Amino acid sequence: MNSIYQAHWIKAAKNTNPCVPEFFRDFSLRGEVKRAELNITALGVFYAQLNGKKIGDDIFAPGWTSYTHRLQYMTYDATGLLQQNNHLSVCVGRGWRFHKLKAWGNKQIAPDGAALLCALTVTYTDGTEETILSDENWFVRRTATVYNDMYNGETYDATKRPGKASPAVCFSYSKKILLPLEGVPVKEHEIFDNPKKIITPKGETVLDFGQELTGYVQIHVHGKKGDRLTVKHFEVLDKDGNVYTENLRAAKQTVCVICSGTDFLYQPKYTFYGFRYIQIEGIDEVNPADFKAIAVYSDIKQTSSFSCSVDLLNQLYHNVLWGQKGNFLDVPTDCPQRDERLGWTGDAQIFARTAAINFDVEKFFEKWLSDLASEQTPDGEIPCISPAHYSRICLSSAAWSDAAVIIPWQMYLAYGNLKNLEKAYPMMKKYVDFMASCCEKNAEATDLDFVHPWKEGFHYGDWLALDQPDPEDSNGRTNKGLIATAYLAYDLCILIKTGKLLGQEMSYYEKLYEDTVRFFRTEYMQNGRTIQDTQTAPVLALFFNLTDDAAATGAQLAEYVQKAGHLTTGFVGTAYLLHALSLAGRDDLAVSLLLRTEYPSWLYPVTKGATTVWERWNGIHPDGHFANKKMNSFNHYAYGAVFDWIFSRLAGINPCEEAPGYRHIRFTPMPDARVAWLNCSKQTAYGEVKSAYRLQDGIWHFVFTVPEGCTAEAELFGKTYPLHSGENNLSAAQTA
Ligand code: BGC
Repeated sequence: MNSIYQAHWIKAAKNTNPCVPEFFRDFSLRGEVKRAELNITALGVFYAQLNGKKIGDDIFAPGWTSYTHRLQYMTYDATGLLQQNNHLSVCVGRGWRFHKLKAWGNKQIAPDGAALLCALTVTYTDGTEETILSDENWFVRRTATVYNDMYNGETYDATKRPGKASPAVCFSYSKKILLPLEGVPVKEHEIFDNPKKIITPKGETVLDFGQELTGYVQIHVHGKKGDRLTVKHFEVLDKDGNVYTENLRAAKQTVCVICSGTDFLYQPKYTFYGFRYIQIEGIDEVNPADFKAIAVYSDIKQTSSFSCSVDLLNQLYHNVLWGQKGNFLDVPTDCPQRDERLGWTGDAQIFARTAAINFDVEKFFEKWLSDLASEQTPDGEIPCISPAHYSRICLSSAAWSDAAVIIPWQMYLAYGNLKNLEKAYPMMKKYVDFMASCCEKNAEATDLDFVHPWKEGFHYGDWLALDQPDPEDSNGRTNKGLIATAYLAYDLCILIKTGKLLGQEMSYYEKLYEDTVRFFRTEYMQNGRTIQDTQTAPVLALFFNLTDDAAATGAQLAEYVQKAGHLTTGFVGTAYLLHALSLAGRDDLAVSLLLRTEYPSWLYPVTKGATTVWERWNGIHPDGHFANKKMNSFNHYAYGAVFDWIFSRLAGINPCEEAPGYRHIRFTPMPDARVAWLNCSKQTAYGEVKSAYRLQDGIWHFVFTVPEGCTAEAELFGKTYPLHSGENNLSAAQTA
């Protein structure tokens, strides 16, 4: 058993909140050391040092999990940091755990206060071992970080000496919830230096890093003793060019440093922000060279590349990547800046396919899905936010809770790991059973076998769609029962395939699937068209294969898009809109929507200088005014799900269900003369898959690269070509 289980949970005798406490202990070695291993976790986030040097290159450990059920511990090799006499120090910030979410009734995410559990095992060359455990022999004192909060920021008082040390107190707290690191540690990544200095019309001093990112700023602090340097982090300037922070809601995103009179380098350790700009107050002369922005996110490896003849599209790809970087910070979050930053299941579900194209996210989602499973209620409901908030809000909304079924399947397609699918299967099944149990309750209400229950109850619906009379209205107009029924059918379809792969008897679910599809057709469709006239309605009927007349539904969708002249879809419809148009044989219309630059469109924010994907189509209106400050993030990844269509249809790279993880690849590009050349690749377990093409003298020239060990075929303008490993050169004229 890991030595951490012998250690004792320790805390300060008196709560130091909001000051960061330092737990420490000195010890000497009694011989030559072969290896030293530190196993460590905390209530809060820890920053561990041995003899003044940081242990490990990860930050915000032990990460964010469903704290009541699961708490990770980290294992570090500390051998190189040991000396004869040692000082082991661990500071514990409040992290996610103790922030009070104003948006959710001012409740802490999890109960309790900062605490530490650790064991340093030293193995000597003579084979003997010694373990330093957290216990009453440790001390605690206050540090110069006199305020810390993940959402609000830090105050560092460099004039403060370390506080008076007092013995740590052992207390009883569960060790049953411990597990070794399961996810991907958060690390520092890109550094943005030399920001542009701006003095706004209001006279504010601002630095622009040129990229919206999630992270913090390293500051070279100069100043007289007692000077107070304040740095506010924010996303956008308003239409007059002044600082705009209202969309951050209650999150203060502010660092405050009180100078000691001696220059030093400062960077926060217990907080992060979503920002592109900083506003600086409290010093007379701001030198941009003293400020560096550091992007922090889970250490996921990028696996895609994309470039094409349309520069704005290349920038959109860049924005999608940065939306993911900024919101894959230990858990998949909706946004990194305002007083939210939560693991909204709907956003994650919508984006998961794109996420797995652009980065290696298998482990990242494995951990998060385990948290989600741990939070499933006994009757099968799935929360809309995971890790769940302390007060357990928001259970089971269609398109959100379905993350429990859809994400494991998407990960299976992307990585081909049946073990993970098997691990998720009980959660998937239980969630579908929950829906089915509700259906059965209503069975008498109709002559159909069941009534989908979620016509009532709470659903977010086609969140932020533009089909309401008021474009600021968050609730899309598409019928919520239609959306819920469509998702039930989609979930059933996935569950049946999964069950069969795992050798399960699925006839009960097959019947339920048939009933659901029949119900959808009876309740929401007529003559192959959805009764409702929103774009999202036929999109779901097409993409989830619920229509019995795809030609009629496709024509309906094309008609709506052409009539509006643009998209009007929200979170639900947007992810599938271009796919649905492709299914309707209208790739031309899909490309028109993709390349549209006027409001509303994917490229409109790009023309407005966006460097990440916005939460709303109308985040900044064409006349420069902002959408509702209550919900207007400039770094939300959901609409970035369009990259999935660019990858799988425009570039035409598709994994396939029968040989997942890209063991078999189907190249199905649909080139369009408006994108005259394109290069797109994806790093798989087998090697790099590539699709490249260009138009020359009316002929399309394709190069498809197939890694060794994979099989592949290409479908070009209705003809199928077998491919071999290595590069395949094909040319074809577009006849259609
Ligand atoms: C979040 C969304 C989320 C939604 C629920 C918002 O506040 O930012 O992205 O999915 O709430 O509809």
